[in-house]
Amino acid sequence: MKEFLFFNLFLNENIVYNEDIQEKGENMKKIVDMMHDFILTYLHEDSIAVDFTLGQGNDLMFFANQYKIAHVYGFDIQKEAIAICEEKVAAAQKQEKVTFILDGHQHCKQYIKAFDIGMFNFGYLPQGDPTITTLLETSKVAVEEALSMLRKKGILVLVVYPGHDAGKEESKYFDTWCKTLSAHEFNVLYVRLSNHLHAPYGIIIERIKNKKIEEKE
Ligand SMILES: C[S@@+](CC[C@H](N)C(=O)[O-])C[C@H]1O[C@@H](n2cnc3c(N)ncnc32)[C@H](O)[C@@H]1O
Repeated sequence: MKEFLFFNLFLNENIVYNEDIQEKGENMKKIVDMMHDFILTYLHEDSIAVDFTLGQGNDLMFFANQYKIAHVYGFDIQKEAIAICEEKVAAAQKQEKVTFILDGHQHCKQYIKAFDIGMFNFGYLPQGDPTITTLLETSKVAVEEALSMLRKKGILVLVVYPGHDAGKEESKYFDTWCKTLSAHEFNVLYVRLSNHLHAPYGIIIERIKNKKIEEKE
C-alpha cells in the first residue's frame, strides 16, 4: 500500500492522541480526519470523488476544497442534508465542482460510471433525526456497487460506527465481507483502536488490479 510505512508511523501518533480525547467523544471526528489525511496521499490531477453519505457536508467540503479533485458527486436521502451541503458549497463558490444526488447510494450506478476516491461515512445526520440512518441492507448493496466502479489505484473509505444498533450490524457484516475480497485485486487496511470495542473505525479498500470499467461519459 502506497506510503504505508510513513502512514503507519503517522497513525500511531494519532492513535495515542485519540485515546486521550475519546472520553470527550471526539474520537469520531479524529478517525474521519485520519481518513482525510490518507485520502490526500491518493489524489492525482483530475481525480473524481464520491461522497456516498453527505450528512453535514464535512467530507464533501474536504473533497471540494482539493484542487486535484476535478468533480465530486454527493448522495443523501435527506433533503435537509442536501440543503445544508448546497449552502456550504455555495459559500465556498464550488458549485461547478459538485453534483448533488437526492437518492439512496444503493442506486449509485445510475448516476456514476467510474471514480477514484469514494467515502461512506455511515450512521445518521449529526444534529438530525437519529432514526434516519444508513442500514445494512442498502449499505452492502451500495458498497459492492461502488467497488465495481472504483478505478485502479483508487480507494474506497468506509467509516463504521459500531456504537449504535444499525452501525453494529454494518460493522459485523463489513468485517467479514472485507476478508472475502480478492487479495489480487484489493488491499484492505483497517484503522481501528483495538482496545475500544465501540469506537468508530476506518476501512480503506484500495484497488490494485485493473478492472475494465465502462465509461459512459
Ligand atoms: C453520518 S452522516 C454522514 C456524515 C457526513 N459525511 C458529514 O461529513 O457530515 C450519514 C448520512 O447518510 C445518509 N444516508 C442514510 N441512508 C442513506 C442512503 N441509503 N443513501 C445515501 N445517504 C444515506 C443520512 O441521511 C446521513 O445524512
